[in-house]
Amino acid sequence: MKKVVISVGGSVLVPTLESHHLSAWVSALRDIVKDYSVFCVCGGGGEARRYISVCRSLGIDEGTADELGIMVTRINAFLLISALGDLAYPSVVTSYCEAKEAALHGKIVVMGGVTPGQTTDAVSAVLAEEVRADLLVNATAVDAIYSADPRKDSSAERYSTITPADLIRIIMKERMGAGSNMIVDLVAAKIVERSRIPFAVMDGRKPEDIVLALRNGNFNGTLVAERPEKVFPL
Ligand code: UTP
Repeated sequence: MKKVVISVGGSVLVPTLESHHLSAWVSALRDIVKDYSVFCVCGGGGEARRYISVCRSLGIDEGTADELGIMVTRINAFLLISALGDLAYPSVVTSYCEAKEAALHGKIVVMGGVTPGQTTDAVSAVLAEEVRADLLVNATAVDAIYSADPRKDSSAERYSTITPADLIRIIMKERMGAGSNMIVDLVAAKIVERSRIPFAVMDGRKPEDIVLALRNGNFNGTLVAERPEKVFPL
């Protein structure tokens, strides 16, 4: 069975109390797990950022702030597990080894952060490499990768396919700007490049898009791969 690792941003799962995309994700994942072995990595979103800001205002060190961020990602992971019910392995796994073991049960395996100093983008890329995933998906709050931040630069180009080397170039350029908000972190991009795992960046508010891509090959976001035409349908 082919393996898919999906990184779901916290801002996508639980943007606010009133509006969330959990039900849509449960229904998409119910579809996907019929044909693929599925791993989900949940981000911390605004909640993690709030805790980290409070830590900084108190002069608490960055490592401790990261630990709090990881706890929030695990809360989101447990929320997704609870929403998935029987479809999910019942506990939040906390290491890559545990994730591999949990996958033997044939359920969706869900995790959050692992270690201070990185983000769940990096976690999902390492996990994809360790389980030899056929596809890594980053479901985020923007719909694709652009040449620049489209909210600040109206001439930003939207990419439907790029190579891993292009992705690294775009991130490096974006990193130079103050207050940049990169869509994918550099560690994740480097792992995508070395592992050669196709990497799909998509609008996490529309989880049905990934179901359609896997099934019919019509993908709406940005596909990062050396041979993008060969990736979908998976
Ligand atoms: P996220 O992956 O959600 O970070 O982890 P992010 O940059 O806010 O990503 P988006 O916007 O949701 O996509 C939340 C925080 O948890 C800590 C970091 O402080 C991160 O900013 N964290 C997470 C770690 O230290 N290690 C991890 O493995 C994961």
